[in-house]
Amino acid sequence: MHALTVQPGRHGSLNVRQLPDPSPSGQELLVRALSVGVCGTDREIVDGAYGWAPPGRDRLVLGHESLGRVEHAPPGSGFSAGDLVAGVVRRPDPVPCGACAHGEIDMCRNGRYSERGIKELDGYGAQLWCVEPEYAVKLQPHLQTVGVLMEPASVVAKAWEQVERVGGRSWFEPQRVLVTGAGPIGLLAALLGAQRGLDVHVLDRVDSGPKPLLVRGLGAAYHTGDAEKVIEEVCPDIIIEATGANALVLASLTGTASYGVVCLTGVSPAGRRIGVDAGSINREIVLQNDAVVGSVNANQHHFRQAADALAAADRNWLERLITRRVPLAHAAEAFEDQPDDVKVVIDMRD
Ligand code: BGC
Repeated sequence: MHALTVQPGRHGSLNVRQLPDPSPSGQELLVRALSVGVCGTDREIVDGAYGWAPPGRDRLVLGHESLGRVEHAPPGSGFSAGDLVAGVVRRPDPVPCGACAHGEIDMCRNGRYSERGIKELDGYGAQLWCVEPEYAVKLQPHLQTVGVLMEPASVVAKAWEQVERVGGRSWFEPQRVLVTGAGPIGLLAALLGAQRGLDVHVLDRVDSGPKPLLVRGLGAAYHTGDAEKVIEEVCPDIIIEATGANALVLASLTGTASYGVVCLTGVSPAGRRIGVDAGSINREIVLQNDAVVGSVNANQHHFRQAADALAAADRNWLERLITRRVPLAHAAEAFEDQPDDVKVVIDMRD
């Protein structure tokens, strides 16, 4: 079989290589890959700036946004050949910490978790992969062309759960959400906001291409231009920040209505400094009982929520979110930014 590999820490090491077919252990599922999605984390790994190979090796199979079809399932696993599945990314730390011991692997406290395709475990960017049944999640059969959105949708499902739990500490009936950034995470966050019946607003830099249409396709409002002005006009109860851009992160912190919840989901590069009026930020958060929460990764429960959200969504809208499909043999092209890219996926079939 062919697999997409990198040497973490080495820029330019991306390769499509022939590897031996994997053989599942007694309990594992064997899955034939359909596609893998490419995200900012994958780009960082390909640039040599992130990622860890499995212990004792220098190469990592890339890919954490998976979709495949079960080829072989052991009896009693709950799966059958032909099922459409996605694999969960994270595995618990070996200690385990309290959160991992309670199945909340996305909330690992000691940082010793592993992640397929990112940290110390081979990913799903191979034509055949194995997965333990407890880390596989089934999708409805009609999602074959879009089910590769499961992992980003699971990250967003977790973020929404965080918002609702944080908001739930007092009376909370939010009306308006502002999502900053119309990339895949922002658009999926907007989708889940629309599915909750909220008044959804999305802010992005571009004013043409697929993003405005995708946002309007959800019945949501699309904004560009001066972020502070947009935030002030919308006056959202919730902000889901999905750019990681310093100025937007800062504007978000004080951008909600009273008792607002800001959920930060963008992973920004460190080392870029800007001046801030820390006093006024603190003052506003305190005097309004606001909350700011960071959210990353997802556990099985969020993957199941993602499967439900994708099943309930308009498939045609999900298909338009995937703006480019690249065959595995040309995988390197998936990592070259093109102007109208939203989500780029690699087709793993021969
Ligand atoms: C993935 C998460 C992961 C994070 C940090 C993100 O791109 O979606 O699952 O936890 O990177 O490695």
